[in-house]
Amino acid sequence: MSWFKIFSRKSKASHSAASVAPSVSDATAKAAVEAALEVAPAADPLVENGLPKIAIITGASRPGSVNKSVAEWVAAQVAGRSDADFELVDIADFKLPLLDEAYPAAYQNYQNPVTKAWSAKISEFDGFLFVVHEYNHTAGPVLVNALSYLNVEFNNKAAGFVSYGSMGGARAVEHLRESLSELQVAHVRNQVMFSLFDDFENFSEFKPTEQNAGTLTPMVDQLVSWTKGFATVR
Ligand SMILES: Cc1cc2nc3c(=O)[nH]c(=O)nc-3n(C[C@H](O)[C@H](O)[C@H](O)COP(=O)(O)O)c2cc1C
Repeated sequence: MSWFKIFSRKSKASHSAASVAPSVSDATAKAAVEAALEVAPAADPLVENGLPKIAIITGASRPGSVNKSVAEWVAAQVAGRSDADFELVDIADFKLPLLDEAYPAAYQNYQNPVTKAWSAKISEFDGFLFVVHEYNHTAGPVLVNALSYLNVEFNNKAAGFVSYGSMGGARAVEHLRESLSELQVAHVRNQVMFSLFDDFENFSEFKPTEQNAGTLTPMVDQLVSWTKGFATVR
């Protein structure tokens, strides 16, 4: 039984989620649910315009981070593709605090305007291309925190990774794959891994080697096809 079902049972048994969350009146909770439902997409974007919409999501907010320069390079590389629409989504723009929602994300009972904005943005997409750095052998906290805010918005969609680090960010992505599985995201095998030593000048200016840059297209090819495929699951 999943943690979500256990949480639901516990909540039903006590007729509220009060045992795990601050108490709110029925009217407040109802209003929050209605507000959360308002941000849900009216229709699947892929059904609406025929082209899958894929977000290139940054994963950093540290001043001086190279993350956005890598994401911008990715966006430039895929801009000419005709099989999907891509949009760069900078997590830093959302200014998400450390997770401070009272209810598990799967409830979509969001209290904070910033969560509703993040939910609405992620709901726009059929697939995700995460730009991932590695901190302490795992994915950086900004991305992990942002993923924790949502659940349903990611379900039955596809994802791919462009990572970087001393070992290409490989360990960060392996950990991220586990979290994304729980969010019911299908993550493609092909992966782009940039080395801090070979693909960055002075560890700061992104200058990808031809060999590593060449791994982007096969990954995006797989991501687009899985993105289309998972629309049928939704
Ligand atoms: C707190 C912290 C922990 C780090 N841990 C790792 C690590 O475990 N493996 C690694 O390859 N690089 C590690 N690095 C180096 C980063 O990969 C490198 O600084 C990279 O530029 C960070 O990405 P950013 O510029 O997006 O912050 C770490 C950097 C920081 C700031």
